[in-house]
Amino acid sequence: MTENAQTTVRIAESLDNREMDELCDATASAVEDGGGFGWLTPPPRQVMETYYSGVVLVPGRTLFLGLLDGMIAGSAQLLAPTRNNEAQAAACNLVSAFVAPWARGHGLARTLTEAVEKQARQEGFGMINLDVRESQAAAIHVYESMDYVQWGAHPLYARLADGTIVPGRFYYKVLIGEAPEAAGAEQGE
Ligand SMILES: CC(C)(COP(=O)(O)OP(=O)(O)OC[C@H]1O[C@@H](n2cnc3c(N)ncnc32)[C@H](O)[C@@H]1OP(=O)(O)O)[C@@H](O)C(=O)NCCC(=O)NCCS
Repeated sequence: MTENAQTTVRIAESLDNREMDELCDATASAVEDGGGFGWLTPPPRQVMETYYSGVVLVPGRTLFLGLLDGMIAGSAQLLAPTRNNEAQAAACNLVSAFVAPWARGHGLARTLTEAVEKQARQEGFGMINLDVRESQAAAIHVYESMDYVQWGAHPLYARLADGTIVPGRFYYKVLIGEAPEAAGAEQGE
């Protein structure tokens, strides 16, 4: 890897064998390092491949690949609300974001997040939500520095491999225009 490593991000509509290998390797190394986005231990490779094969097929889910010097080193997903959720049709979610340990510190998480936000705006979403473990200091730093607003905390957010329960934080960011005025609680949802 060069000192000024080049970061690029692209949407994957399918994954060829090389891309699947690199994505699974990056995922496994991030999970082994402590994860923060789902798996507690790397699942068998076939399970991971089946998962990613599904991700690129499922409607409402967009897979972003983060590359460092041309090699897949991380990813993130843009999740649209389900079609019956008309009340929250304007809000999407950023989920399953990670960068492999060997690729961290080059701005790839920021580039991935910017790409997800850009795509969300293009799809007309006015708001993006995400949540993160309280212990993911780097992620919290990245999202707060990108103007994500913490609106809540969950004291029993996730259970780690050793059984420890860790708290989590919930964030939103307004993507289009000003934050709209919320009606008072007495008006209900
Ligand atoms: C969070 C994560 C995606 C960041 O990836 P990355 O490519 O290294 O991020 P970037 O290089 O874009 O930015 C890292 C920033 O965090 C800062 N940082 C790194 N470690 C930190 C720490 N322990 N505490 C606070 N800030 C930290 C860096 O200084 C940098 O800040 P700067 O750009 O203001 O200098 C990566 O660490 C990761 O995958 N973590 C585990 C999974 C996770 O937390 N996913 C997100 C939740 S769903």
